[in-house]
Amino acid sequence: MTRVLVVGSGLAGLIAAVRATDAGHQVTLVTKASLPESNTRYAQGGIAAAMFPGDSVDAHFLDTVRAGAGLCDPVAVRVLCSEGPARVRDLIRFGVDFDRDESGVTRGLEAAHSRSRVLHAGGDATGAAIEAALVATVRERAARAGSLRESGALAHRGLRIREHTMLIDLTVRDGRATGAVLLGPDGELHSTAADTVILATGGAGALYPHTTNPSVATGDGVAAAWRAGAAVADLEFYQFHPTALAVPGTPLVSEAVRGEGAVLRNVHGHRFMLDVHPGAELAPRDVVARSIAREMAVQKGAPVLLDATGLGRDLLERRFPTITAACREAGLDWAVEPIPVAPAAHYWMGGVHTDIWGRSSLPGLFAVGEVARTGAHGANRLASNSLLEAAVFADRAVRALRLPAGGPVHSGWTVSTVQRKTERDTTGPGTTVDRAALQRLMWESVGVLRSGDGLAAASVALEGMTMRPKPGSGVNMHLRAYEDANLLDLARATVAAARSREESRGAHHRSDFPESHPELARTVLWRLGGEYPGTDGTGDVRTMQSTTNLDDPTEAEEAIAC
Ligand code: SIN
Repeated sequence: MTRVLVVGSGLAGLIAAVRATDAGHQVTLVTKASLPESNTRYAQGGIAAAMFPGDSVDAHFLDTVRAGAGLCDPVAVRVLCSEGPARVRDLIRFGVDFDRDESGVTRGLEAAHSRSRVLHAGGDATGAAIEAALVATVRERAARAGSLRESGALAHRGLRIREHTMLIDLTVRDGRATGAVLLGPDGELHSTAADTVILATGGAGALYPHTTNPSVATGDGVAAAWRAGAAVADLEFYQFHPTALAVPGTPLVSEAVRGEGAVLRNVHGHRFMLDVHPGAELAPRDVVARSIAREMAVQKGAPVLLDATGLGRDLLERRFPTITAACREAGLDWAVEPIPVAPAAHYWMGGVHTDIWGRSSLPGLFAVGEVARTGAHGANRLASNSLLEAAVFADRAVRALRLPAGGPVHSGWTVSTVQRKTERDTTGPGTTVDRAALQRLMWESVGVLRSGDGLAAASVALEGMTMRPKPGSGVNMHLRAYEDANLLDLARATVAAARSREESRGAHHRSDFPESHPELARTVLWRLGGEYPGTDGTGDVRTMQSTTNLDDPTEAEEAIAC
């Protein structure tokens, strides 16, 4: 039996908690807000899997690798696409009711997919349906364990849930994760010991002022892992969803809407994507987001228009009830008029570097879901692969608890060591940074379009931002201070990573290096312990190319066979 601490309650965390409980481990699941609040809950489009006639794992693999702009780890992609269908069937067993029509489960088309293979639920409420089913499953497991403990039949095993509890830091002894320091709902810091910590804390949309993420997405897991010495990678690749509704709160307008036939127009009514890419509105997500950003620059910042009027009211309301409601709330009727849309921060391809079992470079620490960088998404994630990745790698992480205790698992990788003090050192109750200023800076300099000068200026500006005392008290101020420190640490790391990648690739586009360079199609691992490269030009810059046998099919086959 292993004491497993799972942090985060989106799809990845919930699957990890259920699987680890069912495997007989003693599991504690902690989450910063209430159990259902997570990025998963807001996912619309769906979950992609090659499980329909006419589709194949190979076709899904190829689409994923093509979208990833030369940076996917083919082994991780092979695992993702091969194990995806089984994990989707698991979700159905956990009670997710995917939409059906007379021919069976309905499948949608999204950008850069060569086949219609995206399952959805509640029309465009796929994430909410998955979250609800898994939350119910987790609560049932916890209740059952509680009764068994009360009756004396189960002393230690089973699942405990701690909501409104934030991860502050990981504890490390002798080079191994040994648990975590948590901020409880009482406003106090508590240490929790664990044999294994599984991070499932999601991304960091709060780095940007415009995001489709809920406010809990402040990168707590990546920041804590970074501070604990785990390697992180691909931080420069933040995916901007092309179409968020350009109203306060920037609600997502699913790519599935374009999959159904909606088109993008500039303010003159011109369908500009036809000029840009043969896939037009269904070009890879980074291409569409960049094209929209360019149109918006020409239009002096005015959003572009998503014209879904051709789809008809009936289809829009039936297939996209969530978006229809968001439009209505904003006073828009998308059945009769094009709606204003603009890119918004959506998904972080970078994160805690893991192997195909979710193991980080720090023994005892796993990362699954958006917090992880498995290599399955490369420089640009294929639509609807994120829920799939969460399900596949959370399941694998729990299976890996049986494997021999991992050491650093990236034989063949050389880690670039970087060092600086982190903002956590100066964080305490009542400290803050100007989060809005930080977000603006990130948007302007590390957004959809970037330049070397902008990144250099951002680097200087971020060095000047520090956590400062601010009058105020209470748990929320306390929590916000820790979030702010995480955001500042991650903003600096992201800018450094973006500065060091002197090319354009996938979601990372620099006007001073507008082309991709094959010799730079590599992932650089960063670990705390030296200067950030690029911050002052004198840092310990040792970017190393992966020498892992990424193309070795036997590694993939072994993984799949496990
Ligand atoms: C969407 O519905 O467009 C989002 C799907 C995704 O991010 O994969």
